[in-house]
Amino acid sequence: MADLDDLREGSKFNTDIAVQNQAFHIKGASHLGWGMKDRLTRIFNAKTGKSVMLAFDHGFIMGPTSGLERIDLTITPLMEYADCLMCSRGILQTSVPANINKPICLRADAGSTILTELNDNVVIDIEDAVRMNVSAMAVMLAIGDPKMEAKTVANLYHAANQGAKYGIPVMGVTAVGKEMARDARYFGLASRVAAENGANIVKTYYCDGFSNVVAACPVPVVIAGGKKLPELEALDLCYRAINDGAAGVDMGRNVFQSESPIAMIQAVHAVVHEGLDPHKAFELFNDLKK
Ligand code: R5P
Repeated sequence: MADLDDLREGSKFNTDIAVQNQAFHIKGASHLGWGMKDRLTRIFNAKTGKSVMLAFDHGFIMGPTSGLERIDLTITPLMEYADCLMCSRGILQTSVPANINKPICLRADAGSTILTELNDNVVIDIEDAVRMNVSAMAVMLAIGDPKMEAKTVANLYHAANQGAKYGIPVMGVTAVGKEMARDARYFGLASRVAAENGANIVKTYYCDGFSNVVAACPVPVVIAGGKKLPELEALDLCYRAINDGAAGVDMGRNVFQSESPIAMIQAVHAVVHEGLDPHKAFELFNDLKK
């Protein structure tokens, strides 16, 4: 029986103050449900709207590549500086501390490796994503690949359906085939196709004319870092991407293969969230490296 002693009537209804409708800070997400918004907010900082995602899922197709031989030694020390961690379920379950309290973007497709035909993937079971309490699922799209395009678009579509059911956003990851031009026309098409098929975030590559790619994509776009560059060039890449409207980076090799990964991720963070110019960020990198 409820305790009814001293039950106090409410009196502060403030009927003269209209309820404020709050705008949501993430592009294309205003009409999503609360669970989706909560997960997206864990990834994209509510003040800056940006994210530094640390990608270390490379092993799912390439095995123990340079910098990822020992996740516990090379990646775990970086986790505290990242806004989001992107990895496969095997690495999540074995090597990411469960008390890290960081949003996870789970590599949610699996299939072939670099030894055979890339992107011949299937989507993992949504129950895995729910069980591991992830904040997003990443699915590869091979746009322009005559063999894999339709299958990977279907993968994304399927993942988005499942994600919508449980409130888990999907990130469409645009792969670039060897024959594809790495230009705004291609990345613009691939990014838009990802969003049209249900991606809540798109991960693609920076290119000339990138602001058009972002403008035509109705959800946040983050860039992959790509192959290892000298640190100043990698910071310049981040700066230009952010200036052109990127919502952040999902960067791997340019962080974990850096001569000082801890300094590098902090310098990237300063570019993404504070708009630090690349030369100042490089100075910061050198200071932190000491
Ligand atoms: C892409 O499919 C990979 O899974 C990586 O997550 C992605 O390429 C980002 O890493 P990186 O910055 O090394 O290119």
